[in-house]
Amino acid sequence: MSYSVAVVGATGAVGSTMIASLQEQKFPVSQLHLLATARSAGSEYGWNGQTLKVQDIESFDWTGVQVALFAGGEIASERLVPKAKAAGAISIDNSASFRMHADVPLVVPEVNPEALRQHQKVVANPNCSTIQMVAALKPFLDLGLKRVTVSTYQSVSGTGKDAIEELENLTRGWASGQAVGHKVYPAPIAFNCLPQIGSFGEDGFTGEERKMMEETRKILDLPELRISATCVRVPVFYGHSESVHIELDKPCSVAEAEERLARMPGVQVQKAGPGPTPLQAAHQDDVLVGRVRVDPSVENGLQFWVVADNLRKGAASNAVQIACKMLEMGLL
Ligand SMILES: NC(=O)c1ccc[n+]([C@@H]2O[C@H](COP(=O)([O-])OP(=O)(O)OC[C@H]3O[C@@H](n4cnc5c(N)ncnc54)[C@H](OP(=O)(O)O)[C@@H]3O)[C@@H](O)[C@H]2O)c1
Repeated sequence: MSYSVAVVGATGAVGSTMIASLQEQKFPVSQLHLLATARSAGSEYGWNGQTLKVQDIESFDWTGVQVALFAGGEIASERLVPKAKAAGAISIDNSASFRMHADVPLVVPEVNPEALRQHQKVVANPNCSTIQMVAALKPFLDLGLKRVTVSTYQSVSGTGKDAIEELENLTRGWASGQAVGHKVYPAPIAFNCLPQIGSFGEDGFTGEERKMMEETRKILDLPELRISATCVRVPVFYGHSESVHIELDKPCSVAEAEERLARMPGVQVQKAGPGPTPLQAAHQDDVLVGRVRVDPSVENGLQFWVVADNLRKGAASNAVQIACKMLEMGLL
């Protein structure tokens, strides 16, 4: 059996990576529809030896589509996921629009695949920073996860294709001595760090920080988990890094922690050396963990460094892995 698949936002940073992930993960596709706005309709992408043209989503007929991978942003998802559902398709959505809905599973296949059984034709892909962190937290759940503190160092590709271009232009401008303006971020991102991702709430946390806290509780099914996040944009093109501190009910040595992480599917542990970097994590699907230490400042504490490609495991690959897992579980 193979499936008629639509990729919404196919010309974007995530959508174009989804096209590659579908091929790499060998998801059985009978027909692939690439969709975006009228701005980029007609753009061409290679697919299994053919050239496919991007179609304008406004004139697209959803009839017959079985799986819809959404990477067109919140406005597109809110308007079009119901349309895809009405046509009978299962949507896997990368936006934040449905993630916290009680009837929408929020899934990282290696962490909580069973949640997929509750789907009502919509599954949400978690936030990129959340995905890589929960993959590294899962191995410790049976030791009683009491508290998580995380600081992130997030690449510009997490904002999308315009942000990648902005960092490139600012860097080239700096190297050639030319003043270049910025519009994607509120301050120049080149040679800088911006401690704001998303808008500020009344409690001082940003949207990205709230997503990490709320989504982690939902995915791990720990509604009372004590968790606090600080999210920072850094001048890196691909790959988010995180410094994670955890407190457990039971003690865990560095050797045992590394052993547990090494057994986790989709996680690679670096037991020695300076720790994984975004350049090492870029363009592949695994979550890299290193710098595992006992945190001496609390009882039963551990700290480690987690890196992953935000466009791949943080978005496109996780979405395609969800589709593959649903196929394996007989849910498609
Ligand atoms: N970047 C990441 O690391 C990451 C990680 C997790 C989740 N996400 C989420 O994934 C989504 C896409 O992010 P991105 O980084 O790929 O953004 P992006 O590079 O800016 O690409 C946006 C894509 O959406 C299309 N689009 C824009 N408005 C649309 C509309 N109204 N209807 C249909 N398509 C529309 C654009 O098409 P045109 O070419 O026609 O403009 C483009 O293909 C967002 O919801 C984002 O929050 C991103």
